[in-house]
Amino acid sequence: MTSPVRLALLGCGTVGGEVVRLLHEQSADLAARIGAPLEIAGIAVRRLGRDRGDLPVDPALFTTDALGLIKRDDVDVVVEVVGGIEPARGWLVEALRAGKSVVTANKALLAEDGGALHDAAAEGGADLYYEAAVAGAIPLLRPLRESLHGDRITRVTGIVNGTTNFILSAMDATGAGFAEALEEATELGYAEADPTADVEGFDAAAKAAILASLAFHTRVGAADVHREGITEVTAADVASARAMGCTIKLLCIAARGVDAAGGETVNVRVHPAMIPRTHPLASVGDAFNAVFVEAEAAGQLMFYGRGAGGAPTASAVLGDVVAVARNRLAGVRAASESAYADLPVRPMGEALTRYHVSLDVTDRPGVLAAVAGVFARHDVSIATVRQGSAGDAGTPGRGADAELVIVTHVAPDAALAATVTELRTLDIVRSVTSVLRVEGGV
Ligand code: NDP
Ligand code: HSE
Repeated sequence: MTSPVRLALLGCGTVGGEVVRLLHEQSADLAARIGAPLEIAGIAVRRLGRDRGDLPVDPALFTTDALGLIKRDDVDVVVEVVGGIEPARGWLVEALRAGKSVVTANKALLAEDGGALHDAAAEGGADLYYEAAVAGAIPLLRPLRESLHGDRITRVTGIVNGTTNFILSAMDATGAGFAEALEEATELGYAEADPTADVEGFDAAAKAAILASLAFHTRVGAADVHREGITEVTAADVASARAMGCTIKLLCIAARGVDAAGGETVNVRVHPAMIPRTHPLASVGDAFNAVFVEAEAAGQLMFYGRGAGGAPTASAVLGDVVAVARNRLAGVRAASESAYADLPVRPMGEALTRYHVSLDVTDRPGVLAAVAGVFARHDVSIATVRQGSAGDAGTPGRGADAELVIVTHVAPDAALAATVTELRTLDIVRSVTSVLRVEGGV
């Protein structure tokens, strides 16, 4: 057998610890698959004295000098499972420029400045793999960047954040409010002590940027993604969705479109949306992830599995390690970044979507016509109108009030938003109780 492929492991927390464990437990199989054994040259951490349980590794391998470890001559491959923008960006650029292949799970960095990493990889002739960065264990990025390269992807719709999917699934199952469901997610260890990145949609937006870049051969960054979280989703919204045969999910949507001149564009967004219970993504419960890909020739494809957790994420990391180690031994590189299409990213206002609007209105003649007139003025076509009696869709009745539930046809998001703004100004509208986008063909 040839000499070992030596790894610098940056980070030994939830994911890094499982990488160490799997490297140890599967060392013989991994060596057979690669054609050379994998060896850990060193492990960079923040706290040398931290209790790491019964991790099967020599304590002498730990260091706090990540950059020094990366620069060592006996390091072939760098595996980064620290997270964050800096110092990770500096480390990885250094490694790639020096021709050392990189495996990373760092979605925040890839979405913030993936271009810098791809440029450094091209400069150094090194591989950059990041399967674990989106949807944890699910093999998704390799299919997008390899298997589907003969096809034309039109749309990617995904549930890519486990914490928010757990919360929304709990709200749907029990009727709980957001705060109560978040508390349960925290107690069970799904939500972090500071859940902002998850519940405000930052984590999903980073993943959406990575997916869109691969699907549409275009550099898309986190700043290009329209982002809304789930903190405003109420128990009444969930009940209203249920009444329509829908459920609410935090979706990441990346879709091709055309601009006014007929030029191709992309739109990338993350927001809660109602989807029909018959849609394949509706049955994705608990903290699972799933991504629905639509391509011209392949049709519809669905990828499903565990999107987080130490062992599932380490599985994706190790798959990448095997790939880069094999490439290294064969003296080849994986295909480099494909960003040739360079499509313009369309603002959210131009995205085509549908709205579900619930209104508390005064119950008297002419109200429906007045409300319909607002939609017409903004060129938004109404698909269905339902007038609920007291207590429908979870809202208490208010005597002389009625509840109107309106679902629109597809229209530009800006026109839908302007419609809702004007509805709020009508004196016959007591309140706009819920506004949700509707996806997936209700
Ligand atoms: P953890 O916080 O559990 O671990 C981070 C590790 O990085 C720790 O070992 C920490 O050291 C080390 N570290 C932090 N700062 C430094 C520094 N300046 N120098 C050297 N080492 C440092 O994170 P996770 O394992 O959960 O996540 C790692 C990456 O994987 C992130 O990019 C995350 O987004 C991504 N990811 C995580 C998933 C998950 O389910 N956890 C799922 C998918 C992706 P010490 O141990 O001494 O504190
Ligand atoms: N916080 C993320 C989630 C971890 O809940 O999905 C995986 O990226």
